[in-house]
Amino acid sequence: MIYDPSGRMCTVFSDTGRPRWAAAGPKPADLQAMWANTVVYCARYQEDDARGVLAFQMELGNSPNAAGRRRERRFELVGDKLTLYPTPLPTGVTEWSIRLQRARPLTAPHPLAVAMPRQGDGILPYAYETTAEIIEARVPVVAFISPKGGAGKTTAALVLALGLAEQGHRVAIIDSDPNKPLVRWTSLPDRPDRITVHPAPTSQDIRDAVREARRRDPSWMILDTEGSVGGAMAFTAMRPDLVLTPLTGSQIEAVEAIKAADLVREFGHRGGRPLTHRGLLTRVPAAIRTRSLKSVVQQLREHGVEFLPTALLEKEAFRALFSIGGGFDGLEAEGVGGVAAARANADAFLDAVVEAVALAAASAA
Ligand SMILES: Nc1ncnc2c1ncn2[C@@H]1O[C@H](COP(=O)(O)OP(=O)(O)O)[C@@H](O)[C@H]1O
Ligand SMILES: [Mg+2]
Repeated sequence: MIYDPSGRMCTVFSDTGRPRWAAAGPKPADLQAMWANTVVYCARYQEDDARGVLAFQMELGNSPNAAGRRRERRFELVGDKLTLYPTPLPTGVTEWSIRLQRARPLTAPHPLAVAMPRQGDGILPYAYETTAEIIEARVPVVAFISPKGGAGKTTAALVLALGLAEQGHRVAIIDSDPNKPLVRWTSLPDRPDRITVHPAPTSQDIRDAVREARRRDPSWMILDTEGSVGGAMAFTAMRPDLVLTPLTGSQIEAVEAIKAADLVREFGHRGGRPLTHRGLLTRVPAAIRTRSLKSVVQQLREHGVEFLPTALLEKEAFRALFSIGGGFDGLEAEGVGGVAAARANADAFLDAVVEAVALAAASAA
């Protein structure tokens, strides 16, 4: 990124981690990746110190629509570190900053620079180089872990993804179960385009899967795991905003769930910021709360684990998603019963998750 003293700037951001092209040149997928991971624009700029914004009059960019547009960007300069805050935020992105390191002043003897009068000691007539991270797009991440298989992690993960996709979000699911149940769901018909599933059969694969998922520019990410230790290990590669542990109505192993909660707490501690962890009741028969269920809820509360206010009910439609594929619309067409009730439950669950994520983000800020 170069800001010159005459009031012109140019930016090229590119993903330096891309694989090299074969000698013959880019394949269509390489071109697509280049488009998705490269930001180029040149503009005339003005610094508005009073408002802390840079105003850009765009001259050219990778989008032909950029030319002639005016853009503003909030900035902060501390020492040699410049941070830009792009707006508007894409849907689902809660924080986005571009951190840059001032590299070298653009002074003589560059002939063009010599020709231009130098303006004061403003922040801008410099070349900037990015530090390790170019663009930090913070998208909400929800992770499912539970000590017991069969509690409903994978089902809840898919139900959440379908609800978000229906709201227009692009959702990337990291499937970190060696049996790849969600990858298998994508091989069934009618997967909504907005949902992609990225396999990470072992916790070592998670970083790669996240990298691949990010290329799809998701606005939400969901992590489905298998087993609580492996699941919690994943948190070092992917910091979830919300961790959900499903417990079924018939399950009375509060001890196991408490162990999971302790593990989540430990990983939060290691990561330097507490993780928001909620219990999620699943496979609950209608609105009935049995005594054993209440006791589990109580014991977890005593350990500082609250429950999401909405439970997922036991519904044939949730099971059918995995045999028929796609989302709820397709189930109706296949004649599965109770789809409307399942959808209403799924919507309430979605709202509860979105609210819990918003609260977690607010308490982290
Ligand atoms: N809310 C639900 N209603 C009906 N069946 C469910 C529900 N949640 C899970 N199941 C069923 O329970 C079994 C285990 O669920 P799954 O989501 O695979 O759990 P996990 O990922 O925790 O192992 C599956 O057969 C699934 O179809
Ligand atoms: Mg599972």
